[in-house]
Amino acid sequence: MFKRLPGDEARNLVSTTPDTAVVFRPAVVQTPAFITLVIYAWRFVSALVCTLWRHPVACAVPVTLAALWVLYGWPLAASVLGLVVLALLAWAFIARDSFARLVGWRLLAWWRLMSVYRRHWQAVMDVSGLARRIHGRAYMPRLVKVQCDGWADRITVRMLDGQAVKDWTDRTDNLAQGFGTVSCRVALIKGGRLMLTFPRSDPLAEPIPALPIPDEPSVGPVEIGKQEDGRPLKLKVHGTHVLIAGATGAGKGSFLWDTIRGLLPAMRAGLVEVWALDPKLMELSFGRELFQGRYAADPADCADLLDEAVSVMQKRAARFSGLQRSHTPTVEDPFVLVLVDEVAFLTAYQPDKQLRQRISAALATLATQGRSVGVGVMAALQDPRKEVMNIRNLFPDKIALRLDESEQVDMVLGDGARDRGALADHISPVHELGSGVAYMRLETSPEPVRVRAAYVSDDDIREMVALFTERGEAA
Ligand SMILES: Nc1ncnc2c1ncn2[C@@H]1O[C@H](COP(=O)(O)OP(=O)(O)O)[C@@H](O)[C@H]1O
Ligand SMILES: [Mg+2]
Repeated sequence: MFKRLPGDEARNLVSTTPDTAVVFRPAVVQTPAFITLVIYAWRFVSALVCTLWRHPVACAVPVTLAALWVLYGWPLAASVLGLVVLALLAWAFIARDSFARLVGWRLLAWWRLMSVYRRHWQAVMDVSGLARRIHGRAYMPRLVKVQCDGWADRITVRMLDGQAVKDWTDRTDNLAQGFGTVSCRVALIKGGRLMLTFPRSDPLAEPIPALPIPDEPSVGPVEIGKQEDGRPLKLKVHGTHVLIAGATGAGKGSFLWDTIRGLLPAMRAGLVEVWALDPKLMELSFGRELFQGRYAADPADCADLLDEAVSVMQKRAARFSGLQRSHTPTVEDPFVLVLVDEVAFLTAYQPDKQLRQRISAALATLATQGRSVGVGVMAALQDPRKEVMNIRNLFPDKIALRLDESEQVDMVLGDGARDRGALADHISPVHELGSGVAYMRLETSPEPVRVRAAYVSDDDIREMVALFTERGEAA
């Protein structure tokens, strides 16, 4: 059996370079079969110990059952197994949350580790180029652990010494395809360790109907849709400015209308005023009554309205100076939210140069000085280039809906956002799949978050107008 080992062939191999007399003949060292057996036995024992150490519960269950079987016969082993399964099912049925947290997600994580990640790890690392072979030795990034929740698998990885986060962010597509998911996010946890997030489902795949109008007046973050992990999406509008960019039909209107909807009780209570600039006459005109006369579509009227907002802001600043540094909305000093749809029509594409300069200056003034005195700007546009929107950096919070080109993503969300996974240029142009889907980057967090705004239909807007004018009649 040991007479013809694979190494025997090597002795007969020679390699020569053509047209030279140089001949290489490998030196063959014979290894006794006994040493080979010892090496294999050692590997087997260490793998066994390693498995026991890493998966104590998974090993203990079959070992215990086997021991019961051997000692007391199979009926007892089967009964114990049945009882345990029944107890777990009852727990899952009665206290779903605690079962999921303590058992369910762990079981799923173990299953995903065995059936997907460990199984394909070596192949994916090799093919994507994240593993290295240097002088014949293989170096493989280490899969540390898998955690699951209702939305995604999160994998902790130990990078190879000398690897950069960018080596991984450049290969998110390879990783996602390799492990059979649609996307992958990479985040650094601490030096040398990464968290890879592989979503298993997409809560944003279907349009979200308009959310109920809140009961309580509030200017706090307004709930406007869902985040990628299924949690509610809350957008802060008081104390910041928001820029929304997206190709035509991307669903910019949803973000504007969701915000108005969330603020409606506060508008009714007089704590918020929404001023609307709608140069294309297509979006905000539908709910004109909500703006109580602060609505403009004609560029000259828009310029006047913006100047009025600047003057409100400056008067407040003069009154507040030395007394208070941040704004609390009151009926006397409500939060003024200036909504501008298709802002480029007022700035870049406005043929009247004087008007253009007036509008740009007013917008820049509001964006630089407005937030501490309770004047916010929320502007939507299609083309985020600097020539079109030279004040885009004055908006602390940014939202990128579907964009036509990959370079536009970083223009909206800031440098490196696309590398961190904000693939706004990949959002589907089919309305049901992609309208209202966006990547959001907030002032407080560099990680872009994938979100979807709820869809406010014409009927919903009519309902809002009816609710709002009811107040006027009651007053
Ligand atoms: N949040 C959303 N969810 C699903 N579909 C949407 C959403 N927002 C918009 N849509 C669809 O996309 C179309 C275009 O939306 P719109 O807001 O007018 O885009 P934009 O203003 O970006 O050009 C709408 O008519 C609607 O059918
Ligand atoms: Mg629009």
